[in-house]
Amino acid sequence: MRSAMQRAVGTALRRASSRNYSSGTTPPRKVVVLGAAGGIGQPLSLLMKLNPYVSQLSLYDIAGTPGVAADVSHVNTRAEVAGYMGEEQLGKALENADLVIIPAGVPRKPGMTRDDLFNINAGIVKNLCTAIAKYCPGALVNMISNPVNSTVPIASEVFKKAGTYDEKKLFGVTTLDVVRAKTFYAGKAGVPVEGVDVPVVGGHAGITILPLFSQATPKANSTLSEEDIKALTKRTQDGGTEVVEAKAGKGSATLSMAYAGALFANACLKGLNGEPNVVECSYVQSTVTELPFFASKVRLGKNGLEEVLGLGSLSEFEQQGLESLKPELKASIEKGIKFASEN
Ligand code: 2OP
Repeated sequence: MRSAMQRAVGTALRRASSRNYSSGTTPPRKVVVLGAAGGIGQPLSLLMKLNPYVSQLSLYDIAGTPGVAADVSHVNTRAEVAGYMGEEQLGKALENADLVIIPAGVPRKPGMTRDDLFNINAGIVKNLCTAIAKYCPGALVNMISNPVNSTVPIASEVFKKAGTYDEKKLFGVTTLDVVRAKTFYAGKAGVPVEGVDVPVVGGHAGITILPLFSQATPKANSTLSEEDIKALTKRTQDGGTEVVEAKAGKGSATLSMAYAGALFANACLKGLNGEPNVVECSYVQSTVTELPFFASKVRLGKNGLEEVLGLGSLSEFEQQGLESLKPELKASIEKGIKFASEN
């Protein structure tokens, strides 16, 4: 007999898969996870194994990948799994990739900002992107490694230097901010979370995360006060830190991050397969503001980024948030570009 817990998990998984994934035969797609044996990489690899769009799942890390690959490969879904370990196998892991997801790097500890990870993760991202430029220059890249506000500009510079940069193929994953904003809003607004939409724009760190609750749908059962909106905004901006503190030194968000990464990767695959109206928020090269990179809603298509959508109308509070985030986001972008040009 299945327990109530098992039944609930089974129902949730069935609902998630019917909502997010379509079935039937779709073109073969090779997806690579770089950092597959890490805290985010392992659950993300499992979720990508469950995705029916994936025909080949390539799991790469500096250590531990044979075990993760063997484990995930036993799941009875379409994707053929291969594990690759160590830099000498990176090229093989990447060749013929359609989509590369990068959660590699170190996570935060309590008291750290995402920017405190820069010194270690910037070098890791630079090396991985150098290999992407060499072995799969046409692949879409989903950047999860923090600080995303800087690692995406680093990737763009590496690709430019290699002559392979295509702004339509590089995405900073900000989906966890959207996932959090939806969850927190649904709780406060008293609406079912499944139908909630909240755009989140800006970047992926602290005040650069700007949820647009004025555009949230469906509308709250009773009007949310200014104080409610401020509290929801702050909780969304501090969502990552909430997890880092709760984990008390054992890392940052891994499970919810993997879920969010899998949702965004699924949207990219849908776009590649030509499904219409695939819209998600992502941190991309942008002209929505004066900053060269900015997160907003984007339309995904057969070549990756099809259209960067505008911000829509903002409340006064959001307009202020937008102006306040710009100096920090600008500095993070410049830091990434400087690192890439000096190294
Ligand atoms: C977060 O927002 C890990 O950056 C990720 O929790």
